[in-house]
Amino acid sequence: MVRAVVRAARGLARDFGEVEQLQWSVKGPADFVSAADRRAEQILVQDLHRARPDFSILTEEGGLREGRFPEHRFIIDPLDGTTNYLHAMPHWAISVALEQHGEVTAGCIYDPVRNELFAADKGNGAYMNDQRIRVSRTAEIDRALVGCGLPVRDWKGRKSFPGQYERVADKVAGLRRMGAASLDLAYVACGRLDAYWEYGIKPWDYAAGMLLVREAGGKAARLEGDDRPWEEGTVMAANANLGDAFRDLLAVG
Ligand code: IPD
Repeated sequence: MVRAVVRAARGLARDFGEVEQLQWSVKGPADFVSAADRRAEQILVQDLHRARPDFSILTEEGGLREGRFPEHRFIIDPLDGTTNYLHAMPHWAISVALEQHGEVTAGCIYDPVRNELFAADKGNGAYMNDQRIRVSRTAEIDRALVGCGLPVRDWKGRKSFPGQYERVADKVAGLRRMGAASLDLAYVACGRLDAYWEYGIKPWDYAAGMLLVREAGGKAARLEGDDRPWEEGTVMAANANLGDAFRDLLAVG
């Protein structure tokens, strides 16, 4: 998984240089970016399929390709933070998880701009560039830096988000909308953020990141419950000290 992610990142990083130039063009970089996204997906699918030909593959762009062993499944977001990428904002990542029998057993998230590779293996901890990472120890919510998503256009979270936003904003030290859900979760795992939540995100956005948070000693959950774990959902993550209180704060109302 790590090898595939690093190989796909090479092309995306090269194309990102081009996207910076395209900001001034009338047509803008949209077509160029979706081609870059597709190329990255192709590399990931090719490499992972070569390594495990019988596993299923679920990708953001291509949907589900059933393998001979559907209970083993790679879950891929070739470019998380597409809108950032499109606007030449240097905050985006590739995210790949391996789900086995309904449970994520390995995950990696790679930010090629900062050369930060986050990886976790169930039961073996979470790492950034081979260094063990842990969630923060912040215990008071009024000292917490919290990541989130923000509603735009016909975003379905519009109904529940304002209440959640108000309750959280009222209590915490700071809120950040960074624009790449996988990195938000990775940042909770390494203690840069104390907590994070977002309404209606997809499995490829959160599968690897939730494992990272748990392996780094934090709490991560879908607020709708874990009975349908691989559907779109509202995801929360927090360090161990804040986890329960933060979850309650979001769920009220
Ligand atoms: C998006 C990013 C963003 C989140 C959106 C996601 P994409 O993923 O993770 O932070 O707010 O909900 O869809 O589309 O760039 O892969």
